[in-house]
Amino acid sequence: MDVEHWRIGGILLGMGTREKITISHLHAWKRERKKIPVITCYDYSTARMVVDAGIDVILVGDTYAEVCLGFDSTISATIDLMLVPTAAVRRGAPQAFLIGDMPFMSYQVSNAEAVVNAGRFMTEGGCDCVKLEVDRRFESCVRAITRASIPVMAHLGLRPQSIHQMGGYRYQGKTADEAERLMEDARIMAGAGASALLLEAVTNEVAAAISEETTLPVIGCISGPACDGQVLVLHDVLGYSTEHKPGAVKTYASLGDTVTHALKDYAADIRNQVYPTQKQGRAMSAGESEKLARKDGPRSPSRR
Ligand code: KIV
Repeated sequence: MDVEHWRIGGILLGMGTREKITISHLHAWKRERKKIPVITCYDYSTARMVVDAGIDVILVGDTYAEVCLGFDSTISATIDLMLVPTAAVRRGAPQAFLIGDMPFMSYQVSNAEAVVNAGRFMTEGGCDCVKLEVDRRFESCVRAITRASIPVMAHLGLRPQSIHQMGGYRYQGKTADEAERLMEDARIMAGAGASALLLEAVTNEVAAAISEETTLPVIGCISGPACDGQVLVLHDVLGYSTEHKPGAVKTYASLGDTVTHALKDYAADIRNQVYPTQKQGRAMSAGESEKLARKDGPRSPSRR
């Protein structure tokens, strides 16, 4: 594709030489067996860094509720909460393939509500696709959203929004029966029009079988090496936390420690009057400062 400009949310964006990534790219990468790195992201500045790092596919996951807002599960995410970071990430990454994460209760009530809410992710969030945590019971919902021309990523396996029904954060597809059920769910989602699959905490064998069988790009999340791409939570990858991470997550930095040390240094500088110095402020011109001294002498603290 040779696109110089791309229109998103009514704004014509100058793209320079960088291509807008679309669902066609994901399908081509699947055919060409090119692995697809995907990362979650929740703000404008980090989105720019994600793009600079050459990552073209971004998920504004409902893990936002946990890692940024401090809730203890993703069930606390609402559509209004999710749309703000989603639109911010789009502003930081205009060319990326942006996946919006439909939160708990935004698609479970009725297909009509699901279509309206998916539409908000496209129009207000600037998304290219919406992700829903599903099994076969959501076939008609996925069909309704895709009929509205909104690409769907079907999230199968561990579905954290259903944690109360699933009874815990556990690997899925551990028995032959469970495996067959998951594989059939993947077929049903493809038949309903899904454009991509995400497999969270699915056993290696089942993830491999689904990825081999389907023509859809399959993004894995702690589901072994066979998927077409991988997604992880940004804070886990960067070590931007002091909390426990699942064992299957690889951490590439310790930003939590780096940030804490930097903030300690900053606080010490303020307390010890090392920063700011006169040089790090702006002085008046000699003439003006003399004029001020003649007028009313140095300012008393009460007048500052
Ligand atoms: O919300 C999220 O971040 C996710 C990933 C963990 C796959 O769904």
